[in-house]
Amino acid sequence: TGELITSRLMVNGSEKISRRGMPLFLQHSVAGWRVNSSLVLMIRKDVLRFLDAERDVSVVKSSFKPGDTIHYVLDRRRTLNVSRTLHSLLPDVSPLKNKRFRTCAVVGNSGVLLNSGCGREIDSHDFVIRCNLAPLAQFAEDVGLRSDFTTMNPSVIQRAYGGLRNASDMERFVQRLRMLNDSVLWIPAFMVKGGERHVESVNELIVKRKLRVRTAYPSLRLIHAVRGYWLTNKINIKRPSTGLLMYTLATRFCDEIHLYGFWPFPRDANGNVVKYHYYDMLKYSYFSNAGPHRMPLEFKTLKMLHSKGALKLTTSKCA
Ligand code: CTP
Repeated sequence: TGELITSRLMVNGSEKISRRGMPLFLQHSVAGWRVNSSLVLMIRKDVLRFLDAERDVSVVKSSFKPGDTIHYVLDRRRTLNVSRTLHSLLPDVSPLKNKRFRTCAVVGNSGVLLNSGCGREIDSHDFVIRCNLAPLAQFAEDVGLRSDFTTMNPSVIQRAYGGLRNASDMERFVQRLRMLNDSVLWIPAFMVKGGERHVESVNELIVKRKLRVRTAYPSLRLIHAVRGYWLTNKINIKRPSTGLLMYTLATRFCDEIHLYGFWPFPRDANGNVVKYHYYDMLKYSYFSNAGPHRMPLEFKTLKMLHSKGALKLTTSKCA
């Protein structure tokens, strides 16, 4: 089946570029989208050859003891010690064990969401996945409020919460976590060295303040497995973005996957400026060739999967 699926997923053709500097394939929206359930099943089966979201979404308590040493996934020479606090927050079983949903939303953070009016539609899905603790309340009309699963790269603590160095940043962060309301907080703590201080502070805060979040920490093999899946489909993505990771995990437990907020381009199809994030002033240079991701290639792939009915990508206003 490998080749069969390869030919289904392959992105064909050379990239023709418009005068605005935007690949032409972006300018055609596919009308009348319908889910292609047999393709959805085939992709789920194919992804399962590389990873199983039920298992790889998080390590569990029984995987480690406090004091164990973990090698960082993307920097094997460096290590991290499993602290008591971290160990106490590892789930006993996978937060996705036996989960099945009819429809899921994976919400990326592109400024394309601004003025989209997509909040209500996003919140109407059975399971809503969000990335990097993006703010919701001030943008509810466009992005919604519901979260069942929220990712948090350790770098967010520095970037958006001042490294939790002063009391007001800390309170703001605690308020944000309170909004998660017993849903899953997914922290990639073992990817690269650098954020361990922040992860430990967050973990301690969750314990001390008795915050009701269900913490999860991706398995050590997840990123390699996701990369392997896409690579056998001839899509070479060295560091899958959080959004692509979430889509790939969602194939396991969602029958229909709807993506919002995926638009890694500084202009929309009409030439209007699109912010990199809907909520801050971060610039696109952040993920230029120097950055770790290949979001435009990811987008092209997702767009192709949209046109085949494997997922639904919304990049304009919601009805
Ligand atoms: N995204 C997008 N277009 C943008 C911004 C984000 O398609 N202009 C998608 C990407 O898949 C990204 C996800 O939305 O992974 C979440 O966005 P963000 O929090 O900005 O992720 P980054 O921190 O940029 O990247 P990552 O967490 O993947 O390292």
